[in-house]
Amino acid sequence: MEILDFQPKSWVEPFRIKTIAPLRKISYEERLSALERASYNLFMLRSEDVFIDLLSDSGTSAMSENQWSAMMRGDESYAGSSSFYRFEKSVKDITRFMHIIPTHQGRSAEHILFSTICKPGDVIPNNFHFDTTQANVESSGGDPLNLAISEANYPHLEHPFKGNIDLERLQQTLEEVGTEQIPCVMLTVTNNAVGGQPVSMANIRAVSALCRSYGVPFFLDACRFAENAWFIKQREDGYADRTPLEIAQEMFQYADGCTMSAKKDGLTNIGGFLALNDTELAEKCKQKLILIEGFPTYGGLAGYDMEAIAVGLQEVLQEDYLRYRVESVATLGQKLLDADIPIVRPVGGHAIFVDASTMLPHIPQHQYPAQALGIALYLSAGIRTVELGSVAFARKDSEGREQAAPLELLRLALPRRVYTRSHLDYIADALIHLKHNAAHIQGVRITWEPEQLRHFTARYALCLPSNTEV
Ligand code: F0G
Repeated sequence: MEILDFQPKSWVEPFRIKTIAPLRKISYEERLSALERASYNLFMLRSEDVFIDLLSDSGTSAMSENQWSAMMRGDESYAGSSSFYRFEKSVKDITRFMHIIPTHQGRSAEHILFSTICKPGDVIPNNFHFDTTQANVESSGGDPLNLAISEANYPHLEHPFKGNIDLERLQQTLEEVGTEQIPCVMLTVTNNAVGGQPVSMANIRAVSALCRSYGVPFFLDACRFAENAWFIKQREDGYADRTPLEIAQEMFQYADGCTMSAKKDGLTNIGGFLALNDTELAEKCKQKLILIEGFPTYGGLAGYDMEAIAVGLQEVLQEDYLRYRVESVATLGQKLLDADIPIVRPVGGHAIFVDASTMLPHIPQHQYPAQALGIALYLSAGIRTVELGSVAFARKDSEGREQAAPLELLRLALPRRVYTRSHLDYIADALIHLKHNAAHIQGVRITWEPEQLRHFTARYALCLPSNTEV
């Protein structure tokens, strides 16, 4: 009798646990000395000193039994590996791009692309370049231009597709800069830096039309394409009855190519690719690939890595997986909102972004409130997160003065298929505890930084409360 068919009110993990990795929470004193050893940079902590690791959703997925068993088929031939052809087919079934170039992760795909198409003085518009994309454009002498819609600058403003690019500003850029100096336009789906926010199909379609009318290639940064497809299915008219695969295929159909980190929506621990239709450009990229990654049928990967990606790309588009994935992040977000913790709204696909400036109004922007909050969350609960504010995204002007990032966000990135509902409860409770004790959290200053991508290796010192600082 159908009436007995139980429909759960909330999401359930669509998997059971088969192998476990033990977690140990070290003491407060041990966490304090671990932080000091790490110069207060959470990237510098040893993972064994971390209880719950929300530093990144990249390369941190739990793989399935199907992925592990496919890996046993890995063909490690130097050239023409059958694993490559299975990988290529899996990527082509979704993207339909003609040339699939395997790389060891997303940033090498970016490096190969931008060092080939971007020359000094060029401009690469995007909704928002992620840190490695920004750095790869800059290292080719280009200017990475972020053109997210203005709503993205307001963490508390609800918008179903807050990852969209501002089409008017894009057109204005194409007019003013001129197509000679815009080797491509990019869209990052979902838009990681402003909250894991999706881009609508209408926006992707419009960017594609604009780029085609100006004769400028259009690339997707597709790291989280499946999560983006799920949001389109949930929120955009006309897509509710389409499968995530069909939606993803349509997204890719509007683009001329993509860069991809399989460490996210490939559900693997390593891997990526560059995919494109332009045969001449693909040849140039393959020559560079041979120089820095490897032969075109393995790039920077082992045969077994390509097998894991081939399967992961299919699993990531399954509806029960995507429902669990996106709704579990939303559940954590809702708990925080219920406790009046300021987070980017609506909740994105892979992470919660806490608005640290609002949560810690006593810490000025130049004392990096999101970094300060990240340090406090580790110290109080052993949870590791990442700053995505002015440490990661500030730009320096021509006189070397720092231009603060628009938002000071602390990202809690959820690895895929790794943590359970009770881990989410623990995370929420820890943040609520910090909210009640916010006045005790101190700002930081940077005592050393490298020239590029400083957040990975910078060292910090705690600032004294501002009224006592000398
Ligand atoms: N593009 C986006 C939108 C990303 O989020 C990342 C990585 C990359 C490109 C680069 O890919 O790591 O495989 O080289 N983001 C990770 C993160 C590191 O934590 O968000 P990669």
